[in-house]
Amino acid sequence: MGDLNVAVTREGVLRWLAVLAQVFAGNREQLTDLDRAIGDADHGINMERGFSAVQAELAANPPADIRAIFQSVAATLIRSVGGAAGPLYGTFFLRAAAACAGKTALGAADVVALFQAGIGGVQQRGKAEPGDKTMLDALLPALDAMRAAEQGGSDIAGILDRGAAAAEAGMLATIPMQARKGRASYLGERSIGHQDPGATSSCLLLQAAARTWRL
Ligand SMILES: Nc1ncnc2c1ncn2[C@@H]1O[C@H](COP(=O)(O)OP(=O)(O)O)[C@@H](O)[C@H]1O
Ligand SMILES: [Mg+2]
Repeated sequence: MGDLNVAVTREGVLRWLAVLAQVFAGNREQLTDLDRAIGDADHGINMERGFSAVQAELAANPPADIRAIFQSVAATLIRSVGGAAGPLYGTFFLRAAAACAGKTALGAADVVALFQAGIGGVQQRGKAEPGDKTMLDALLPALDAMRAAEQGGSDIAGILDRGAAAAEAGMLATIPMQARKGRASYLGERSIGHQDPGATSSCLLLQAAARTWRL
């Protein structure tokens, strides 16, 4: 506990965000294609724009600690990303920032607390329920899996591997769902049979953390 060798530092947080900028640039077409089927074809553009703006802002104004980094990310996403995803992911990072207050490194319990706070924020802000075919259908199973792994004594890599696997299963489980929130809900039954774009970007976010935070 608190051992710097088993904790995510400020540098680790910055690395995750840099990886996210690459991941969302690389998956821009996939996310946009998914959003074309049940939305307005902008989710990939939104995510790439948001996380490249995050990189620019972090470079221009390097924040002092983990909380300030996540606060900067939140402000940038809310400012630069339109639509549903900007405020929702902005809220995720705003709550994550609060969960990291006063911490110079994140141990296993802190990492779970970060995601718990962030995902709780998405839930509060968007008011979606499980099964509504949203990003929460990837995020909530991921959170359950991460809590279980942490309680079972897993290290950070083990926790995030379980979270990423659950997020992927949750993402795939959105395919047969009918959307009840956001733009896709306007399609009614025609939203069935398509993977939710936001669940896909949330899965990518977890997978990037799992790949980056291997200590
Ligand atoms: N109320 C909500 N709660 C959680 N996620 C939501 C909600 N509304 C929409 N979403 C997510 O946002 C994604 C769409 O994001 P995006 O395309 O960037 O925004 P918009 O729908 O405004 O064009 C959806 O695939 C869904 O996962
Ligand atoms: Mg859209």
